[in-house]
Amino acid sequence: MSSYVITGAARGLGWEFLNQLSSDSKNRVIGIVRNKAATEKKVAEELSGRSNITVLEADITNYDAVKKAVTDTAAVTGGSLDYLIANAAYLPTWDQYSPIGVLGETPEKLTYEFNKLLETNALANIHLYNLFMPLILKGKGKKVTVITSGMADQDLVNDYELDGAALYAISKAAMNMVTAKFNAQYKNDGVLFLGICPGMVDVGHFNNGMNNLDISLTFTEWTADSRTATPEELAKLGQTVEKFQKYAPHFKGPDNPENSVKAVLSVIRKSSLENGDGGAYLSHFGTKQWL
Ligand SMILES: NC(=O)c1ccc[n+]([C@@H]2O[C@H](COP(=O)([O-])OP(=O)(O)OC[C@H]3O[C@@H](n4cnc5c(N)ncnc54)[C@H](OP(=O)(O)O)[C@@H]3O)[C@@H](O)[C@H]2O)c1
Repeated sequence: MSSYVITGAARGLGWEFLNQLSSDSKNRVIGIVRNKAATEKKVAEELSGRSNITVLEADITNYDAVKKAVTDTAAVTGGSLDYLIANAAYLPTWDQYSPIGVLGETPEKLTYEFNKLLETNALANIHLYNLFMPLILKGKGKKVTVITSGMADQDLVNDYELDGAALYAISKAAMNMVTAKFNAQYKNDGVLFLGICPGMVDVGHFNNGMNNLDISLTFTEWTADSRTATPEELAKLGQTVEKFQKYAPHFKGPDNPENSVKAVLSVIRKSSLENGDGGAYLSHFGTKQWL
């Protein structure tokens, strides 16, 4: 039996991790969410009969709530944890379309969003990892994975002049260094830390999809709330998609959560300290090819 904790398990990729991992009744799967009652209801409706799922409630920026989730996890697993998947993240729309210089025209807003991104996508995961380490050290799997983004690849940003989503990308780049620092400390204890980008995945954020673009796709990493994109946003999105297609001519648009999560889980399974993967920043292909 293997035990898993997934943060942000209420929807999107986190829900799909919960779904795929709990489909094996030998796994014990713990989802950390912000609304326990709503997620338990969803589990009862969509994954009924899966008694190997436990839902715990914590906003990952709330240290005490995460600490309690660790205690509750230990009670469910008997004091250890095999795999931690830090999937939850703040994905704002505000910085998606404008370059960093334009964001700077509203300095208070920039400061607010920057702090919230760093707090949620990097600092909260530092606390999450530290709090779960005693359980991970007692586990058999000893793998800790954050869901990161290819948008944090400095070469990709430079080569394709990717000027959108600056603050989000900075928060993911910071988290990549968190992965490396935890690897530096815990490699000798046999714990593997990884950052894996799931590819571009349609988790259903935009209502209208990207149907006005040449390639019809629902472009979701770029959008955090369910709403209709403005014509200006669609135009900016179109430019970015063109850059992506230059980078990866085979790229036809976002994948679905099912394929993405399968691919990410396969990278987690295949990666090891012995293979030299400690602290690695990889795509869902297990390489540096992001799309
Ligand atoms: N989709 C993509 O194309 C893509 C590409 C690259 C990387 N990623 C990464 O994949 C991960 C999952 O994103 P997604 O695409 O599945 O987006 P999503 O559907 O918006 O899911 C984000 C999840 O994070 C949770 N969350 C946000 N802030 C939180 C907090 N303070 N405490 C606890 N939970 C919090 C949300 O909880 P609520 O349900 O309570 O709001 C939600 O469950 C993220 O790390 C994202 O950066 C996604």
